[in-house]
Amino acid sequence: MEQKRSGFSGKLGFVLAAAGSAVGLGNIWRFPYLAAKYGGGMFLLVYIILAVTFGFSLMVAEIGIGRKSQQSAITAFKQLDKRFSFLGYLAAAVPAVILPYYSVIGGWVTKYMADFFTGNGSAAAQDGYFGNYISQVGEPVLYFLIFMALTVFIVLFGVEKGIEKVSKVMMPVLVILSIGIAIYSVTIPGAMEGVIYYLKPELENFSVTTVIAALGQLFYSMSLAMGIMITYGSYMKREVNVESSTRQISVFDTGIAFFAGLMIIPAVFAFSGGDESALGQGPGLMFVTLPKVFETMAGGQIIGAVFFVLVLLAALTSSISLTETVVASLMDKLHIKRIPACIIVLASCILLGLVSIFGYSIWADVTVIGMQFLDFFDFISNTIMMPILAIITCIFVGYFIKPQAIIDEVESAGVKFKSKKLFVVMIKYVSPIFILLILVSSILNAFGVIKI
Ligand code: PFF
Repeated sequence: MEQKRSGFSGKLGFVLAAAGSAVGLGNIWRFPYLAAKYGGGMFLLVYIILAVTFGFSLMVAEIGIGRKSQQSAITAFKQLDKRFSFLGYLAAAVPAVILPYYSVIGGWVTKYMADFFTGNGSAAAQDGYFGNYISQVGEPVLYFLIFMALTVFIVLFGVEKGIEKVSKVMMPVLVILSIGIAIYSVTIPGAMEGVIYYLKPELENFSVTTVIAALGQLFYSMSLAMGIMITYGSYMKREVNVESSTRQISVFDTGIAFFAGLMIIPAVFAFSGGDESALGQGPGLMFVTLPKVFETMAGGQIIGAVFFVLVLLAALTSSISLTETVVASLMDKLHIKRIPACIIVLASCILLGLVSIFGYSIWADVTVIGMQFLDFFDFISNTIMMPILAIITCIFVGYFIKPQAIIDEVESAGVKFKSKKLFVVMIKYVSPIFILLILVSSILNAFGVIKI
C-alpha cells in the first residue's frame, strides 16, 4: 500500500482520476430519472445549490482528511482520532452495498450496447422492450455477470495505467457526444415543453422529497460519503490545490449530469406528450427514452452504439473504483491477498446482484418497505448510510480535529483557501443539522409515519 502513496503525478492526474470515479451511471442514468421524477427545474436548482455548498464543503473535508492522514478511509479516521475508527468501517460498507446493484445497471447498459451493435437498436425503441427485458430470468443475469467479470478482471490485474489513458480520451468524447445528443433531443417536435420543465424552476414542484432526492444524488454522483475521496486525497501531492481541484471536479460532474438530463427529459415529453407517468418511471427512464431518440435520428443506430460504449466505459471506471475500495479494505483488514479479496467481493456481489435482478422477475411481487430490491439497496445506501456518514464526518471535522486542521492542510500548498468561511459554517453548523433533518424525514417517510 505504502509505495502507492505518491499516486497521482499532478493536479490534472488527480482531477481526472477523481472525475473518472465521479462521472458514471450516477450522472447519465440516475440524475435524469430523479430530475424527471422530482420536479424538473426545481430539482436542478436545488441540486446546484447543494453542490456548491454541501458538496463543495464535504469534498474539501474528505480530500483534506485523506491528504492529512495519508491513509485510505478505513484507517484514516482511526489515525486522526481513535474514537472514530468505526467511521472507516461504515465508509467501507457503502461501496459494498452499491457495487452489486451498480453492476446490474451496468449489465443493462452492456445489453443495450450489444443490441445497437447487432442492429437490434430499433427493437430497443419499441414500447415495452425494457420492461420485457428486465422481467426475464436468463439474459439480465448473463449481462450482469459479463459486467462484473470485466470489472473484477481489471481490478485483479490492476491495469490502472490503461484505464487512465482510456479515460483521458473517453471523457472528452463523452462530453461532446452528450452535448450533441442533447442538442438533437431539444429539437425533436414536442420537446420544448420538456426543456421548460427541466430548466424552469416552478415553486409548486418543490417538496421535501426534492431535497432528499437531490442530496442523495449529490453524494452518489460526487462519490462522497463513502470514503472514496479520502482515499484519493491520500494519493494527492501536497503542492496540489485542493480547493480548485474540488471546484473542477464538481463542475465536470454536474456538467455531464446536466447534459444527460437535457438528452433525456425533453425526449420524454416528445415521445409521451408530457404524460406524468412517463416522467415518474424511475430507473428505466434512460433505457426507455434514449433508444427512441436514436430511432428518429439520422445515423442513430451508429450514434446509439457509440453512446452505449461510452456509458459502459464510464460505468466501468466507476465500478472499478468501487470494487478497488472494497477489495483494498478487505486486504487491509483481513490481511489477505488481492486474489482472495477479489473472490470474496465477486461472490458477495453476485449474490446481492441476483437479488436485485430477480426483484424484477421471479420476485417481482416481493417488496421491502414498499420498494423493489434494487430501489431498496439504492435507498439504504444513498438515503440512509451516506447521510449518516456525512453527518458524523461533519461532526468529526467540526468539533474533533477542528476545521482549522483541514484549512491548514488546504493551505499547506501555499495557496489561500478562498471559501474558508463558507467551509467552516457549512461543516460545523449547516450541514450536520440540515442533513439530520433530511435523514429523519426520509426514514419517517419510508416507514409511512409521515407523508412527504
Ligand atoms: N459517482 C459514481 C456515479 O455517479 O456513477 C458512482 C460511484 C462510483 C460512487 C465510484 C462511488 C465510487 F467509488
